[in-house]
Amino acid sequence: MVERVGIGFIGCGNISAAYLKAAAGFPILDIRGVADLNADAANARAAEFGLKAQSIDAMLADPSIEIIVNLTIPKAHVEVGLQAVAAGKHVHSEKPLGISTAEARKLVEAAKAKGVRLGSAPDTFFGGAHQTSRKLIDEGAIGTPIAGTAFFMCPGHERWHPNPGFYYLDGGGPMLDMGPYYVTDLVNLLGPVARVAGVATKLRDERLVTSEPLNGTRIPVEVATHVAGTLQFVSGAVVTIAMSFDVPRHQHSPIELYGSAGSILVPDPNHFGGDIKLATASDDWQTVPTQHGYADGNFRVIGVADMAEAIRTGRPHRASGDLALHALEVMEAFQRSSDTGEHITIASRPERPAALPVGVAIGALG
Ligand SMILES: NC(=O)c1ccc[n+]([C@@H]2O[C@H](COP(=O)([O-])OP(=O)(O)OC[C@H]3O[C@@H](n4cnc5c(N)ncnc54)[C@H](O)[C@@H]3O)[C@@H](O)[C@H]2O)c1
Repeated sequence: MVERVGIGFIGCGNISAAYLKAAAGFPILDIRGVADLNADAANARAAEFGLKAQSIDAMLADPSIEIIVNLTIPKAHVEVGLQAVAAGKHVHSEKPLGISTAEARKLVEAAKAKGVRLGSAPDTFFGGAHQTSRKLIDEGAIGTPIAGTAFFMCPGHERWHPNPGFYYLDGGGPMLDMGPYYVTDLVNLLGPVARVAGVATKLRDERLVTSEPLNGTRIPVEVATHVAGTLQFVSGAVVTIAMSFDVPRHQHSPIELYGSAGSILVPDPNHFGGDIKLATASDDWQTVPTQHGYADGNFRVIGVADMAEAIRTGRPHRASGDLALHALEVMEAFQRSSDTGEHITIASRPERPAALPVGVAIGALG
């Protein structure tokens, strides 16, 4: 086996448990410590997973740590990322890469200048259901993709998240929060986006938290909570999208893509698995078996494992900073289009991340 890669986590809130659990399935990852602005949060996760809690400064000075996994809130992603890059660490960030394309670009450029790798969530597009969907599309199962839809709509995260305020402040909202899963998977499936038209609105200026421990607290809403629009891909395909925290319930599929020869239903890009369905004009929907691994369970650290393997073997990592910057540029364009009434041309053109091979053992990437 290749030499393990030392990693340290900054940010020990809600999502850190999923990463720490999933990391046990990737032998290349050697977790050296956890840190947080709030030492109690770091101590609690350290105790839960038998890890060492450190100060952020001590973690950044630790030469055995090669990758910093940044699980802080969106407003802190670039600041913490820049600190880690300055310390010579590779960085994998939670999504979005930053709260604006302009600030995220600084992080991308700083990492390039320093010669370290930058990566970002989401890594759910590594999931078996999404890799098999991509393989089917690449093999021509739907012919030439011409159109599609992508929907995430819910009544808001204040019903379950213990500290949901950040979802409604600058850097939050349904497009920056959930859009990364959909836009990144669409780029995985169809390639980069050329232009965007959007409309952004909100139902309320204030929301009532009903989760514990803040049940009954009112939180301010600074951002649009219903964002709808159209993405036109470089390939020419046109996808209609809506991301919302204002919808009680709906019946749309997460992603549907339509081509010259057939249609495909791609399951929830916030998960690794799920049913893929194909149909043609004459044949009804058929469930297609997933061909790839990573289809069953939580692998929400696989992008970090891929970066670790890529560092050791010298290949590009898949959940790259360039891909995340493109997703952010696309997501930001919906608000800009809504404000200006114009289509927004997307400047960045990342490569599609390399497809995962069929048949890799769980814990490896290839
Ligand atoms: N909760 C989820 O289900 C979920 C799922 C996927 C992705 N995410 C993403 O993960 C990130 C974190 O979300 P969360 O739900 O864990 O949030 P959270 O509020 O539960 O935890 C964030 C943690 O980061 C720490 N922190 C904030 N600023 C910091 C700084 N400057 N330096 C060091 N630590 C700092 C906080 O003290 C807190 O412990 C967000 O970007 C979110 O979009 C969350």
